[in-house]
Amino acid sequence: MRSMKTKVKKIDKMQLNSEVSRSIVEEAGDILKSGGLVAFPTETVYGLGADALNKDAAHKIYAAKGRPSDNPLIVHIARIEDLKRVVRIIPKEAYIIADKYWPGPLTMIFEKAEQVPYETTGGLETVAVRMPGDEAARKIIEAGGGFIAAPSANTSGRPSPTKAKHVIEDLSGSIDMIIDGGDTAIGVESTILDMTVIPPMILRPGAVTKEMLEGLLGDIAVDRTMVSADSGTAPKAPGMKYRHYAPKAELSIVEGPTELVADAINSMASSRISQGFRVGIIGTEETKGKYRAGIVKCIGTREDEMTIAGHLYTILREFDEENVEYIYSESFSTGGIGSAVMNRLLKAAGYHVIEV
Ligand code: TXA
Ligand code: MG
Repeated sequence: MRSMKTKVKKIDKMQLNSEVSRSIVEEAGDILKSGGLVAFPTETVYGLGADALNKDAAHKIYAAKGRPSDNPLIVHIARIEDLKRVVRIIPKEAYIIADKYWPGPLTMIFEKAEQVPYETTGGLETVAVRMPGDEAARKIIEAGGGFIAAPSANTSGRPSPTKAKHVIEDLSGSIDMIIDGGDTAIGVESTILDMTVIPPMILRPGAVTKEMLEGLLGDIAVDRTMVSADSGTAPKAPGMKYRHYAPKAELSIVEGPTELVADAINSMASSRISQGFRVGIIGTEETKGKYRAGIVKCIGTREDEMTIAGHLYTILREFDEENVEYIYSESFSTGGIGSAVMNRLLKAAGYHVIEV
């Protein structure tokens, strides 16, 4: 179905007021307003945008991504005052959170207003809303009419895109336009917080952490299915039930004291290599020198977990391209953004963890 001509335009985030940038934003806005699809950068991952209030436009997103139609989309806004146009009731806690974390990597779920079509909410009575921190994203949202449905701009089942190149790989020929704003700053998707329950519940971990939200509101619940392979219960965010972020290779996470982890990975890797398989290893700045075989990739430094979040999806995509058959990854701390990293890594591994 890749038969369309997809325009790719680079935007300079330091020069958003230049004439060139303004004309790119205007062109993207015109495409969105006429029901087309535009991929654009946000601070988390690239999004695939369509007019959230136009059911035919929202519908096109599912076709382009190959996304199951019961998986709801996030409505992106550019101004806090627009929230009330897409949701029915705004609990006062939502304003407290929005004051502090919007614009930013946080999505909140509310009861939907009538004008939000079921095509956007995957048939649900609730709607997810986010005001992204990326200024280029907000300008595009505004130019497109103010309410833009945007899932991650990958084809369903692939890692979310953190570079325009990833979007081009997955969606070129299937959408109208791709805006290249360089690498995304964070690299994992937004935190999702359900505001329709008391206390509010995290359905997907992201850069805005449980601790940060508790600092504002006190008690915050966490969807249990988020942290383990609890196959008996369905996750509350429909999208979390799919085997997302799945690399082609079989991925194992190896957990334990650093020295033992490196030894265990070395021995598993060399045994697979001697059987004739291609092996990839995910290490860190601190440990990469310990690995002796396979394709070793450094995901970042343990001193700054943001670097790890930033490289996760790129590395998974690179291993796919390199036709790696087994990947061994170290495990990461679950403090701060680490819980989002481990959530994505565990899903990619099908919860396969080796303790040493
Ligand atoms: O960082 C992000 O949130 C990125 C950027 C582009 O903004 N977007 C993103 O969208 O990750 P997507 O569609 O890939 O993930 C949205 C998740 C899915 O797991 C979906 O099931 C969940 O949000 N979701 C959306 N609306 C929901 C609702 N009303 N109730 C529960 N979960 C919802
Ligand atoms: Mg996604």
